[in-house]
Amino acid sequence: MAGSRDSIANTIRVSFLVCLVCAVVVSTASVGLREAQHDNRMQYRQVNILRAAGLYEPGMDLREAFQRIERRFVEFDTGRYVDMPEDYDPMRAARDPARSRPVAPDPAGIRRQPHVGEVYLAWSEAGELERIILPVHGYGLWSTLYGFLALQPDADTVAGIGFFEHGETPGLGGEIDNPRWQAIWDGKRLLDDDGDLAIRVIKGAVPDGATNREHLIDGLSGATITTEGVNRLVRFWVGDQGYGPYLEHRRDAYRDNEAT
Ligand SMILES: Cc1cc2nc3c(=O)[nH]c(=O)nc-3n(C[C@H](O)[C@H](O)[C@H](O)COP(=O)(O)O)c2cc1C
Repeated sequence: MAGSRDSIANTIRVSFLVCLVCAVVVSTASVGLREAQHDNRMQYRQVNILRAAGLYEPGMDLREAFQRIERRFVEFDTGRYVDMPEDYDPMRAARDPARSRPVAPDPAGIRRQPHVGEVYLAWSEAGELERIILPVHGYGLWSTLYGFLALQPDADTVAGIGFFEHGETPGLGGEIDNPRWQAIWDGKRLLDDDGDLAIRVIKGAVPDGATNREHLIDGLSGATITTEGVNRLVRFWVGDQGYGPYLEHRRDAYRDNEAT
């Protein structure tokens, strides 16, 4: 009896049954939790969009807050809004050669860019545009940084920045999550008076006497490579290859609106 329990055939049978039971449990959990995982991811994204825009308060009703956030799709080349299916995913499109192109030159390590990106527009209760929120990403030191850059309705003044995913070192590159560093971005301007791209994260602190302080952000000490990555990715996404043409249209619309 003891011999048959310890037989090779029985060992294989028991191992197979244990594997089968575990596989059923894991796949049931995976399928059953798929919707919850999707909801959690969406919620996390929404919190980060609101956070970058400076519109997030802990404990707020996310569903209600997000009713005033509109998602639009933008063709990078023309900077014009285009219609896309609700489930369009720019990151997935970037992996599809038919819907994307290689980035060249590629100072921010982006590799492929979809033809169509997304923007989020935050509207006030009175129906006025409050923020333009751009998804941004690019390479730091160890990882790709994913975040949002929020602009004021003039499409030139920064309202906030935040990263929701990166693998930089806590205490060094990870300090891009530090609210005190992020606060420096508030009010900085993308363009100089000639309309040229002027925003820049520099190495070290911005000197007191610098005449172009309104465009400069202090680099994080001990994290020059990560902060140079942030510099490059921000300049890429607000520049000509990124949302530049779109922001140009928004600036025109803002000026027309101010003039009336
Ligand atoms: C374990 C370890 C982790 C590091 N992590 C980062 C990082 O996340 N971001 C970064 O820019 N530099 C990081 N560095 C430092 C870089 O290697 C480099 O020295 C630094 O970016 C130079 O910045 P500094 O000129 O401000 O000193 C790390 C270094 C070590 C040894």
